[in-house]
Amino acid sequence: MSVSDLSEIARKMVAPGKGILAADESTGTIEKRFKSINVPSTEENRRDYREMLFRTDQAMRDYISGVILFEETLNQKAADGTPLVELLKADDVVPGIKVDKGAKPLAGSDGEQVTEGLDGLRERLADYASKGAQFAKWRGVIAITPSAPSRNAIFANAHALARYARLCQEAGIVPIVEPEVLADGKPGDHSIEITAKVTANTLDAVFDQLAIAGVDLTGIVLKPNMVLPGINAPQASVEEVAERTLEVLRAHVPTDVPGIAFLSGGQTDRQATAHLSAMNARGPHPWALTFSYGRALQAAALAAWAGRRENAPAAQSAFAHRAAMNALAARGEWREDLESA
Ligand code: 13P
Repeated sequence: MSVSDLSEIARKMVAPGKGILAADESTGTIEKRFKSINVPSTEENRRDYREMLFRTDQAMRDYISGVILFEETLNQKAADGTPLVELLKADDVVPGIKVDKGAKPLAGSDGEQVTEGLDGLRERLADYASKGAQFAKWRGVIAITPSAPSRNAIFANAHALARYARLCQEAGIVPIVEPEVLADGKPGDHSIEITAKVTANTLDAVFDQLAIAGVDLTGIVLKPNMVLPGINAPQASVEEVAERTLEVLRAHVPTDVPGIAFLSGGQTDRQATAHLSAMNARGPHPWALTFSYGRALQAAALAAWAGRRENAPAAQSAFAHRAAMNALAARGEWREDLESA
């Protein structure tokens, strides 16, 4: 696949007024989400829940550019036998796949983590591509504590992201490069200034490693955290989050990158929407700015569904509403009063 094909997919993933649905919760994470609604995490329940989201056809067509899947979902069929990937393609949604094997303890560090999954990745990517995946995701996690992040943790995660990204491009797959500086880690009492500094350092390390690995920046999507105070620190205004996030991105993200799709990282649905909208209202920017939310797109739908088939219409309308609000935010046009309109 040529460079221009990769750029075309990347640009489609961040198309105006659309964003990405992160539905790639690992088996452990989806179990946690289902526990919150008292639903056992069986393969069938996971299938039913995700099928229900993917069959919200109008919202998928209008507001969602791509969906990040967990490996199980890439191989799964809907109740009527249609592969779930085909449901996405029918709505012109690009299928993607989480390919990392999760964050594991980093040797020699005080509780820091490094993401694993590079061994055998070339072969796995070929398999995912043959099953229809056009983009991938790898998440590196950077925690802030009195003793972290260490240079080692930032470097190790940046290096792994770069090796992953280059392997993806070799396989004709667009890498979502996700270095997440946690807001909701422990103790979570750090200031927004600290997050800004750590995010800047992390982005510098990531783009340095991407350059060394020869990754073509026009064929990636960056998935960063917003610049927020720790979850247990005094919170910042929407304006401050927007300004500080933009300041860090302008100084540390090359303009060759076609798009930035934020993670929600424990923000409430409305915060995640409000922050994105405030940033886009301050545009134009050199890159598209949109969403790649997991929790902030699904929380309302998950609660409305509660594991019951008869709740599917209510859950779909909750999902469609959230997707519509975020699509407005991707254009900088969201307003609080539209939430109840
Ligand atoms: P959240 O939006 O719930 O943070 O999840 C996005 C994601 O894909 C994390 O890797």
